[in-house]
Order: sequence, then structure tokens, then C-alpha cells
Amino acid sequence: MTATVDWQPLIEAALEARQRAYAPYSHYAVGAALLTEDGTIITGANVENAVYPLGICAERVAVARAVHAGHTRFRALVVATVNGGTPCGACRQTLREFAAELPIVTVDAQGRVVLETDLAALLPHAFSPRDLPQE
Ligand code: THU
Repeated sequence: MTATVDWQPLIEAALEARQRAYAPYSHYAVGAALLTEDGTIITGANVENAVYPLGICAERVAVARAVHAGHTRFRALVVATVNGGTPCGACRQTLREFAAELPIVTVDAQGRVVLETDLAALLPHAFSPRDLPQE
């Protein structure tokens, strides 16, 4: 499934996005790069806040930026952290809204691939829009 994705530009975009993280509290900078269906790369980084719970993850920044730019279909996601950490549960659910089987790669700060997976593996038996009763 991941064979058709050109991962290197996404990895570079996620690493660059990570440089623009605002993470003065956790010091855990995260960069995300989403590949849209039409080949556009949309990035995000985590943005923390002095009111700690208000911080937002890199992946959700990327999703919000993408949707606001008119993209709701995604082909791949790269997440860059110091150690190749995976998307948190909230981000998995946010991504699930748009891409049930999204291929995901995590990389470390040097761009080395740590994990190759997909959203179906990260969020099995997910609640999805189809679970809501139709009128
Ligand atoms: N973080 C992300 O940006 N994405 C994730 O999926 C995991 C966590 C951020 C949130 C917070 O700013 C910092 O990493 C430490 O949790």
C-alpha cells in the first residue's frame, strides 16, 4: 500500500515543520506532513500554551490547515519527532475522519524511519462517521 508514496519529500517536509514547533513546556517538538490526494503537502507542528491542555498536536494542525485549504482526502502522513513517536489517540481519531487506512511513517530527528504503519493498525475498530445514525 505504501509503495506508491514518494516518502522522501514528506520526510523532509515533516522535519522542516518540526523546526517551527512551539513547544516551550514539553520541549518535545513534532512536525507532521500530510500528502493530499492531489499531491499537495500540508504541514503542521505542535503549538503549546501556558494553559497546558490547550496545546495542539502537529497532526491536528496539519489536518485543520489541509481541510481549510480545501483538502479532505489524504494519501500519506509522516510524523517527525526526536525519537519516532507515533500519533496520539486524539490525532488518530481526527485522522480517521478522513482516511481510514492512511499510510503513516514516523521518523526521528535525523529523518530515519522508525515505524511504517497505517491508521487501521493504529486505531482498530474506530468510531467513524458511518457510526452516526443517518437522518
Ligand atoms: N504531540 C504531538 O504534536 N503529536 C502527537 O501525536 C504526540 C504529542 C505533542 C503534544 C505536546 O505539545 C508534545 O507533543 C508532548 O506531548
